[in-house]
Amino acid sequence: MDELRINIDRLMGRIDELAQIGAIENTDGCARLALTDEDKAGRDLVLTWMRDLGTEITIDGIGNVTAVWAGPDTDASLDPVMTGSHIDTVRTGGRYDGNLGVLAGLEVVETIAEAGLSPRRPIAVGFFTDEEGSRFPPDMLGSLVYVGGMSLEEGLDTVGIDGAILGEELDRIGYRGGAPCPAAAPHAFVELHIEQGPVLEAEGTTIGAVESVQGISWTEITIKGQSNHAGTTPMDLRRDPGYAAARIAAFVRELALEMGGRQVATVGQIKLHPNLVNVVAANATLTVDLRNTDEMMLQQAEKQLAVFCDELAESENVTITSRSLARFEPVVFDPEVVDRVACTAEALGHSFKRMPSGAGHDAQMLARVCPTAMIFTPSWMGLSHNPFEYTEPTDIAAGANVLLHVLRGLADEDG
Ligand code: GLV
Ligand code: MN
Ligand code: MN
Repeated sequence: MDELRINIDRLMGRIDELAQIGAIENTDGCARLALTDEDKAGRDLVLTWMRDLGTEITIDGIGNVTAVWAGPDTDASLDPVMTGSHIDTVRTGGRYDGNLGVLAGLEVVETIAEAGLSPRRPIAVGFFTDEEGSRFPPDMLGSLVYVGGMSLEEGLDTVGIDGAILGEELDRIGYRGGAPCPAAAPHAFVELHIEQGPVLEAEGTTIGAVESVQGISWTEITIKGQSNHAGTTPMDLRRDPGYAAARIAAFVRELALEMGGRQVATVGQIKLHPNLVNVVAANATLTVDLRNTDEMMLQQAEKQLAVFCDELAESENVTITSRSLARFEPVVFDPEVVDRVACTAEALGHSFKRMPSGAGHDAQMLARVCPTAMIFTPSWMGLSHNPFEYTEPTDIAAGANVLLHVLRGLADEDG
């Protein structure tokens, strides 16, 4: 492995500049929900950096942006090696989730360009629309459309939690492009991302060579009961959606603990209506996020939740309906690309660990169409989807240098 290394100050400078857009007061975090004004401003800034690098930029029908760079002796007719991630965030986002993968990709291109190198294949750096899915479910919507897993029409028609239509928001911010979806598959895809969990930090390991992504099941549950006076309605005559929602939240937690292994369960959102201190709620809406690396176990969790809801509806005399917001099976990455990540980390002198990903990522969609893997760097206290998300600059440099050399190796491949 030669001595070429990325410029960490330049990379940290860009992470900081992008994080100023939608900055959350008194924190290092930011809020750039997909297709909001903040997302547009973030996109505009990243596009200026893409243009400065002399890349060829395309925007597709769902707003995914791809910047392709070729050196003077690169064979532009070959499929590019691709990297990237997302720049949208959750409402309480950190500055690294997604953004690191996009900006490190640009940093890798700049490093290679500055060194006057020409890999055989072009290098593409992309950012995908609405990875978080917290405004427009499902998560990874843009990359799902990119690989043909969802039609463009369905993607554009997606209704957000605020009632907005994805396609209209895309037009409003000027990011509905003409490039086709699904896109042509790249030669390979590698995404750098923070771990967003506690494993690497706890073990003192610098690099995660990500072998798989766990399956994801998001369900929205709606409970309807009878709104009534909190003081006069006897307990045994209530039809209380607030209580039923609480029972479901407690049930999924107990279920995950009972199942053990890698089963996790989260109720991240509960909305009561009319949401008043002295009124038994008329209805409740809550979300359940179930994840497992094992598809059969995930299905078992889903079934048990459905049975529980049926029994609860009967015993509490409420109606319970549910609708799927997202459902993705576990994904196994390409063993050869994972090996490349592990070998490159070792050659650069970094400790590394082969591991699954707990979070969903655009890479899991790209894995449907080309050899794919991911590189993880540690997260302070395992925190993410939290403005206090933090990764040491030395770890960011390590991850970006692994990305640099993995991409260079793939970009010089035949085939
Ligand atoms: C996406 O960020 C997810 O894993 O929820
Ligand atoms: Mn992410
Ligand atoms: Mn995220």
